Amino acid sequence: MDNTDTYLLNFKGCYFQRSLVDVDLVEHLDDFEIRDDDVFIITYPKSGHRNRSELVNTCDRVPFLEYSAQKVDHVNRPSPRLFTSHLPYYLAPKGLKNRKAKIVYIYRNPKDVLTSYFHFSNWLVTFEPSDNIEHFMKRFLDGKVMGSLWFDHIRGWYEHRHDFNILFMMYEEMKKDLRSSVLKISSFLEKELSEEDLDVVVSQATFQNMKLDPQANYDYILEAENWTRTKEGDFLRKGTIGDWKHHLTVEQNERFDRIFQMKMKDFPLKFIWDIN
Ligand code: A3P
Repeated sequence: MDNTDTYLLNFKGCYFQRSLVDVDLVEHLDDFEIRDDDVFIITYPKSGHRNRSELVNTCDRVPFLEYSAQKVDHVNRPSPRLFTSHLPYYLAPKGLKNRKAKIVYIYRNPKDVLTSYFHFSNWLVTFEPSDNIEHFMKRFLDGKVMGSLWFDHIRGWYEHRHDFNILFMMYEEMKKDLRSSVLKISSFLEKELSEEDLDVVVSQATFQNMKLDPQANYDYILEAENWTRTKEGDFLRKGTIGDWKHHLTVEQNERFDRIFQMKMKDFPLKFIWDIN
């Protein structure tokens, strides 16, 4: 495996962001102790994990497991701990397989993921920039990006879902019906929400409100670390369904569809992306 890439580090077949990954932690993931009340939000990058951070209002931070700018001392974090992660299923800490800790897996139309990821990579200095979407699309379809191949990520987690206590949530459904999605998640987490709490969570998790939240946009880290190529831009960019239509050509879209059909045929999860 080529491990000389400036931006990416390959560990056991999965690409990580070289400058941010906690290599020691990743090499010892099996030893990472999982607590019964841990909750993991797992996504392929750019699938919109941030809107779940408000679910437990005592926690205003949901650190990444495998990435940390300022090394988080997970062991001394009070329970219940919330984590976010882009790990593929096969690298998940063994302790997650006891089905006690909970995982919410969020997935999104990969064409929108691609579009979001393209902008994101050009915005953050720690990612390899692409002059145009064609260049990025090739890398995305080769799995030569942080998180590796989208198709493998979702397939792996879904096909091994019985090994984990996992709830699959589709970004597009959450956008369409945030209230029902919050209820689904809170019921999975066994956290009963009063009507008022539910109202607050739903309101805090809307794109419009999250975009105004400097914490959700990681403003403080971006500024402290000088991580962006331009001042303009936010982690929460557009937050829409179908932005790919403004970026992919007809040919690129057809090529993507062909690869999607090939990779995802016989995959049981039904995708209904274009809910507007
Ligand atoms: P766009 O670039 O299409 O706007 P992640 O949080 O995994 O980095 O994914 C980021 C993508 O999810 C961005 O997509 C971002 O706008 C979107 N997103 C994050 N929180 C959201 C929310 N509360 N509602 C809608 N979209 C959200």
